[in-house]
Amino acid sequence: MKKKIAYWMIALGVLFSACDETQKQDAGVDRETEKKIEALIKKMTIEEKLGQMNQISAWSNIEEMSGMIKEGQVGSILNEVEPKRINALQKVAVEESRLGIPILIARDVIHGYRTIFPIPLGQGATFNPALAKAGARVAAIEATSHGIRWTFAPMIDVARDPRWGRIAEGYGEDPYLTSVMGVATIEGFQTDSLGNPTALAACPKHFVGYGAAEGGRDYNSTGLSERTLRNIYFPPFEAAVKAGAATIMTSFNDNDGIPSTGNSFILRDVLRREWGFDGIVVSDWASVTEMINHGFAADAAEAAMKAISAGVDMEMVSASFITNGPQLAKEYKVKEHDINNAVRCILRIKFRLGLFDNPYVNEMQPDVLYAPSHLAEAKEAATQSVILLKNDNNTLPVKKDVKTILVTGPMADAPFDQLGTWVFDGDKNHSITPLQALRQMLGSDVQVIHEPALTYSRELNTPGIAKAVAAAQRADVILAFVGEEAILSGEAHCLANLNLQGDQSQLIKALAKTGKPVVTTVMAGRPLCIGEEVEVSSAVLYAFHPGTMGGPALADLIMGVANPSGKTPVTFPKVVGQVPIFYAHHSTGRPFNGTETLIHDIPAEAGQTSLGCTCYYLDAGFHPLFPFGYGLSYTTFEYGAVQLSATQVKKDDTMTIEFDLTNTGSVVGTEVVQLYVQDIVGSVTRPVKELKRFERITLQPGEKQRVKFTLPIEELAFWNIDMKKVVEPGDFKLWVAKDSQSGEAVNFKVVE
Ligand code: BGC
Repeated sequence: MKKKIAYWMIALGVLFSACDETQKQDAGVDRETEKKIEALIKKMTIEEKLGQMNQISAWSNIEEMSGMIKEGQVGSILNEVEPKRINALQKVAVEESRLGIPILIARDVIHGYRTIFPIPLGQGATFNPALAKAGARVAAIEATSHGIRWTFAPMIDVARDPRWGRIAEGYGEDPYLTSVMGVATIEGFQTDSLGNPTALAACPKHFVGYGAAEGGRDYNSTGLSERTLRNIYFPPFEAAVKAGAATIMTSFNDNDGIPSTGNSFILRDVLRREWGFDGIVVSDWASVTEMINHGFAADAAEAAMKAISAGVDMEMVSASFITNGPQLAKEYKVKEHDINNAVRCILRIKFRLGLFDNPYVNEMQPDVLYAPSHLAEAKEAATQSVILLKNDNNTLPVKKDVKTILVTGPMADAPFDQLGTWVFDGDKNHSITPLQALRQMLGSDVQVIHEPALTYSRELNTPGIAKAVAAAQRADVILAFVGEEAILSGEAHCLANLNLQGDQSQLIKALAKTGKPVVTTVMAGRPLCIGEEVEVSSAVLYAFHPGTMGGPALADLIMGVANPSGKTPVTFPKVVGQVPIFYAHHSTGRPFNGTETLIHDIPAEAGQTSLGCTCYYLDAGFHPLFPFGYGLSYTTFEYGAVQLSATQVKKDDTMTIEFDLTNTGSVVGTEVVQLYVQDIVGSVTRPVKELKRFERITLQPGEKQRVKFTLPIEELAFWNIDMKKVVEPGDFKLWVAKDSQSGEAVNFKVVE
């Protein structure tokens, strides 16, 4: 009898491991669709299967593309945005190819299609997932109206190095904020059902660790341990998979020697088996054949073999699968089982998108691009994304009785650059700049003098500064718009120097010398090192690249029609040498103790240990310029004492955290209240603080509100010394505060 049981267990085990690993996980699969997929796969030749796994970038010769499609050599096309051409290509796929499988049309719709929203980093500053979702919905409605059904967004790479140009494309340094904003964006793109004709399949990217590129230099290697991956870089992706993201993109970097595109640990063990992902894994642009440059594959055939075996389903543009796949399969160097699984995932998403039933885009539908409601959403997002960094003597909002305003700086009227990076389809002619918006808002009541001083951010030796200074003499207030052009951030656009480019710093300093109040607004794709400019300015707004409606949003904020509520989604360094600098660093053996002897205060021939031996820079100190979560308002908020539902909790308890928030100023305002936790002692060292909750609370002057957070204790789990995700019992600290460096800690204990 025992023998029989053992036999059946072995037999079942063999059966189980032979079946599709994704189907095993996904109890909720649609059986009818799966049947159709299996039926199709049975009919497909190996060439047709590899054709589905091939994504091409559109080229102008439609006949040539049609020829490939007819032969079943194309599964997806990116960068085709013309509805007529899309329908023509789709017709070939559906009516002329042997199996009639529709094409999946993809595009990088990153922060808007035509109506451009703030760059994702700016959206991160809103701490408002509802806005991110609404923005993604607008983008999806506009993009699908042109036949696009797949976007390569959101980028949910945790990024802690502002030298890395792609920091602009994500939500900043924090895994929790990135997860929440990423999930909201996915929900906005996809809606409840991919079958909705306005749904865009999302593609969280880049899996994984890409944001940690060494030295902040794009495409560079990373050296992240499994624990760091699991605690910091995986969580946004796991949340994205839970939220139903249809696809995932691999990253360019090699981590600990293994390029993501050839990494079966991340693609099969974690993504498929642990998280049950059943959508498409797409490579990044040519990241399959770039494994040759990495020195991880000798040629395109080996690259294809490694990528397919590791779990890449679709190859973006480098065509090594389709070229080498048949031979590799013949020689059993790739398993047909792996190819079948890849095709299954691709067909599954095509079915879910409803492409088999309705492959065409309606060319006759009314124009939805730049719809008034889309522009209104974009303006709201831009308004909430702006961070007030300084406001001495309530310089802002600008007083109602000003007669003359000087508008200056290269970003005051830069319709292209205010859109930021990754805007293939945005049109600068639809941008409203701060200069235009201020002129429109103020009409003839206020004289607006425009003296740009610099025509673009990198300009040097310009006589324009003298002109702006002369004009400043006639003005009551100076509005200086500086920052960086769109081209200075985004992919491959990294910087080793984070100061303002060109003569912009000289401009701010010269304007400040006039004695007139200077309001500096920075538009940039990353946090810049602006300590000196902040020092001499009376007020500073940080707008990142705010998009199409950046001008009206800034005009409202500057003139007090709206009140700033953005908070820094990333730590602002004083100088680039502090990078990487982020709030959730681990506790060190010699933590900073509040005293720092800075370079000019060191006595000559000071004794070796006389400076205290703690963790800070002699020339830049310990603190950043602005911490994570920081941002001011035109009003003030008071935080009442924090009350916990219990100071001793069990692992499966849920804790509630309550406090009063009062608007103690004289205008309505919104505060982003933030909840941080520290796990004081762990089996491995833990971050000094981790964001666990946040919420935007709007209060009238004098209004008090009881704010309540609920925190399941299981959310305090982390990957511990045994590489297990557990809540370790012990003492914790908790803060509710206006930023990552404020607030009084309260204590609680987790018991078994
Ligand atoms: C980028 C991706 C992008 C892809 C397609 C690559 O260079 O890394 O983020 O989605 O191109 O345009």
